[in-house]
Amino acid sequence: MKKNKFYVTTPIYYVTAAPHLGSLYSTLLADVSARYHQLAGQDVFFLTGTDEHGQKIAQAAEKAGKQPQEFVDGFIPSYQEMWKRYNIAYSKFIRTTDQEHIVGVQQWLQRLIDQGDVYKDFYKGFYCTPCETFVTEKDQDKQGADVMCPSCGRATTEVSEECYFFKLSAYQDKLLQFFEQHPDFITPKERLQEVISFVKEGLKDLSISRKTITWGIPFPGDNTHVTYVWADALNNYLTGIGYGTNEASLHTWWPADLQILGKDIVRFHAIYWPAFLMASGLKLPKKLLVHGWIKVDDRKMSKSLGNAVDPKQLANNYGVDEIRYYLTRKMAITQDSEFRISDIEQSINSELANDLGNLLNRCSTLALKNNLSMIEPPKQWSDKSKVLHQECITMIQESRKLVEQGYLYRAVNRIWEYINKANAYFHEQEPWKQARSNQDEFAETIAATVYSLHSIGAMLWPVMPTKMELMLSSLGFEWHKSDDMFVHLQKSAWTVSCTIKKIETLFQKIEITKESNVEETKVEQKIEEKKESYLQFEDFLKVDMRVGTITACDEIEGSDKLLKMQVDFGDLGQRQILAGIKKSFTPDDLVGTQGIFVVNLKPRKMMGIPSEGMMLVASDAQGLQRMIPAGDITPGSKVG
Ligand code: MSP
Repeated sequence: MKKNKFYVTTPIYYVTAAPHLGSLYSTLLADVSARYHQLAGQDVFFLTGTDEHGQKIAQAAEKAGKQPQEFVDGFIPSYQEMWKRYNIAYSKFIRTTDQEHIVGVQQWLQRLIDQGDVYKDFYKGFYCTPCETFVTEKDQDKQGADVMCPSCGRATTEVSEECYFFKLSAYQDKLLQFFEQHPDFITPKERLQEVISFVKEGLKDLSISRKTITWGIPFPGDNTHVTYVWADALNNYLTGIGYGTNEASLHTWWPADLQILGKDIVRFHAIYWPAFLMASGLKLPKKLLVHGWIKVDDRKMSKSLGNAVDPKQLANNYGVDEIRYYLTRKMAITQDSEFRISDIEQSINSELANDLGNLLNRCSTLALKNNLSMIEPPKQWSDKSKVLHQECITMIQESRKLVEQGYLYRAVNRIWEYINKANAYFHEQEPWKQARSNQDEFAETIAATVYSLHSIGAMLWPVMPTKMELMLSSLGFEWHKSDDMFVHLQKSAWTVSCTIKKIETLFQKIEITKESNVEETKVEQKIEEKKESYLQFEDFLKVDMRVGTITACDEIEGSDKLLKMQVDFGDLGQRQILAGIKKSFTPDDLVGTQGIFVVNLKPRKMMGIPSEGMMLVASDAQGLQRMIPAGDITPGSKVG
C-alpha cells in the first residue's frame, strides 16, 4: 500500500439531466482537495462518475421514450464536457453500467450471500423514487393519506414486493463503536451526532434488491431481482479502483481518504456504506466531507425542482476560475448557502480584481517601471518584512490544516486574510516613494510582495489553477510539483531569485448586473439548460407575422370548416387566406376587422383553392378566439 497516497471521491450523479451547479459543487470540492494533496507531493486518485441504474432513471427514460441505456448514454458527454470546462482533473470517470463495475458488485453480493449476511423476505412499505429510498416506518411523515419522504418531502409510493435483505441490524453496535473511536469521521462534526442518534434508535435490515423493476444489476443467483440502486452505486468507490478486477490497485488506493457528499445522502454514506464495508472485511473511509445545499430563493437547487443553474452559462459570463473561487469560498460547507449573481459579481470586483489582481498589478508595474525585474532577497530583511514573512508561514500552516480537515472555504478565507496583510504592507511601505529615495528599500518591498504572491498563488492554485499559473509564471515562480510544496513555501520561498515580467490584467472587473436583470439571468440560464427543446431566437425571427385588415370573406362550398378571406396587408398588398374557423365565426364577424397572420408560409391549396398565409387563433374547450391587435394599426405592420 502506498504511504503517501490520497484517494478522493465524489457522489456519482443520477443522469436524468445535464449537470447543474449543485453537481458541480460536490465535484469541485473534490478537485480542489485533490489538487491540494498533489501540492503536498502525494499520489492522488480522484474518482467521479454517474449513477445510471434504478427506478428513477428507468422512469425518466420511459418518459423520454428511450431505452434506459440509450437514455443514460445521451447525458455522459454533458458531464464529461462540463468537468473539462471547469478544469476538473479526475483520474477516472466511472459509470455504473460499466462491465467492470457490474462484475465487482455481483462479486461483492456473492460474498455477502455466502457468508450469510443476506436473506429473502417481503418488503411492505413505502418507496421514494426521486431519492431511491425505502421509507421506514419511523421516518414516515404523514400528510393526509400520503406518506411523505423525510428527505425530499415528496409523496412516496406504496410498494409490496419480495426482496433480498442485508442484515444491517447486525452492524448496529459495530457502527456505534466505530463512531466513538473515530470522532473525526465526518466533517462537520454535528453531522456525526445526527448519524449516531439515528443508529441508536435502532437499525432495520435493508432491502438490497428490487423485483418490480428490471433496470439494474442482476442479483447473483436470482435473475428475477435486480440489485437495489444504492447497493449498486455505493460500491463504485471500490470497483472504480479495481474491486473484483484489479486487487493490486484496490489495495493501493483503498481506504478512501476523503469522500465528498451532500447532506441529503449522509445516511447512505455514514451507515449503509460503512456496514457494507464491514461485511466485506474492508477498512472504512478515513473521512466523509458533508456539504450543505446550494439554494436558489431558499430552495434546494435541483433538476426536478426546475431551479437548476447551468454552470456552463456562468463560466461563459464570469470565467471558470472566478466561479470555482466563488463556489469554494462563498458556499460554506457547513451550511446551506444561497446562490446569488450579485455575490459572484461582488467577489470578482472586490476580492479577485481589487485585493489580488491590483496587488499583483501595482507591484509588478512599479517594479518594471523602475527597471527592477530580477528579484532577490535583501542581505537583511527589515522587521516589517520579517513580520510579513512570519505571517506568510503561519497562513500556509493554518490553511493547510483547514484543508486537511475539509474546511476548504475557511482555508481560502485564511489565505485572504494574508492577502489583506500583504496589501497593507505594500501600502504602508509606499514603494513608489522608496523608488525615488532608497533603491535597497524599494527592492526589499518588491521582493517581500513578490514572495508573498508566490505563496498566495501556490496556495490558491487548487482553487483557480489557470489564473494562478498565469500569475505565478509572470512572477518567475518555479513549480516544485513533485515535492511537498507546503514545505518548500515555508522553507525556501523567500530565498529564491526570480525574474518578473509584465502581465495583462489577471481579473477583469465586471459591470454589476442591475438587480432587475438578475432574475432575467436566472431565466436565461434555465432556458439554456433546456436548449434542445427551445426555438432559437433567430429561428423565431424567421416567422413573418403581420397585421392584416379583412376586406372580404366568403364561405367555401362543400366545406364546413373553411372560410376564404381577402386580407389587406398595406405595402405587402392584398392576399387570399383560408382558415378553418367557420364553426366559430361568420363572414360578417370578420369583414372590416383586423387580425394577425403569418405571411411567409409556403402558399398551399385547400380544397383546390390557394391560400397565402395563416390566421393566428387560440383555442380552448369553448372554441376559437382570434388574435387581434388591441387597437387599430396600419395594415402590414410587423408583429414580434
Ligand atoms: N446518485 C446519488 C449518489 C450516489 S453516490 C454512491 C445521488 N445523486 S444526485 O445526482 O442526486 O446528487 C449527487 C450529489 O449532488 C449529492 O451530493 C447532492 O447533495 C449534490 N447536490 C445536488 N443538488 C445540490 C445542491 N443544490 N447543492 C449542493 N449539492 C447538491 O444522490
